[in-house]
Amino acid sequence: MPRLTIDDGPLEISFRDVGSGRDVVILLHGFPFTSEMWSPQLDALADRYRVIAPDFRGFGGSQTSPRRYTLARLADDISELLASLRIERAVIGGLSMGGYVAFEFYRRHARQVGGLVLADTRPDPDSAEARANRHRMAALVRGEGVTAVVEQLIPKLLSADTRSRRPDVERRLRAMMESATPSAIAHALEAMASRGDARPLLASVSVPTLVVAGTEDQLTTAAESRAWSRAIAGAAFEQIEGAGHVSNLERPQAFNALLRAFLDARVTTGGPPSHDDER
Ligand code: MLT
Repeated sequence: MPRLTIDDGPLEISFRDVGSGRDVVILLHGFPFTSEMWSPQLDALADRYRVIAPDFRGFGGSQTSPRRYTLARLADDISELLASLRIERAVIGGLSMGGYVAFEFYRRHARQVGGLVLADTRPDPDSAEARANRHRMAALVRGEGVTAVVEQLIPKLLSADTRSRRPDVERRLRAMMESATPSAIAHALEAMASRGDARPLLASVSVPTLVVAGTEDQLTTAAESRAWSRAIAGAAFEQIEGAGHVSNLERPQAFNALLRAFLDARVTTGGPPSHDDER
């Protein structure tokens, strides 16, 4: 996997980079996963798009940040990645925590955004109770290790149907989660707990936007997603039947069909230099 050293650290960030189209799609993973969660989308889009899926600090092949960080800093990492690859503008897609970072990215780097794909996520900040819960979980992972947190998360992530009929999805997610260190997980929890409110941003979004949610998502419900998507002018809202919170991995065909239709119809990030020119 290619790697980039970013200034703040310095720290090495790894990313998957496939396809060769002029239109670029960045896919930001959820918590506590890795860029591997986007494998079905990388495979499905690469014939027409350049698709880049980075690993956030501490996840996948990226180095763990020695210090605490904010989601705004993760957005800046992605902006630095685009700049270093000489990509002017891209569609920014994110699932759950990746969506929180996509909101921050839009807040801080709107000129680099050609479209948004927001899956199983929400613009609201944490409630006081959710924040307290994240701090408890951070203490748990530091004290008892990653497995304790994985066991708490798994039942909330996948639909009952996925759990019974697609054990491979659960295995894959577990492997991603178990590859993280306790401090990577704790830092991400603390960053999510302190994230800002993206709701005031929604009315200013002026790029094509697709909002997606699994019908069985318990963490960010489809009803909730439909409601906040209305604050973005012209946003499309789509739900994925039978999927839980990790809709792209639980129902890859349905997710890819929506993503592909959205990108083909609504998005041209365009502009030189293309991936081919750089190679
Ligand atoms: C995720 O999948 O990224 C998490 O559910 C986000 C969160 O804990 O809020």
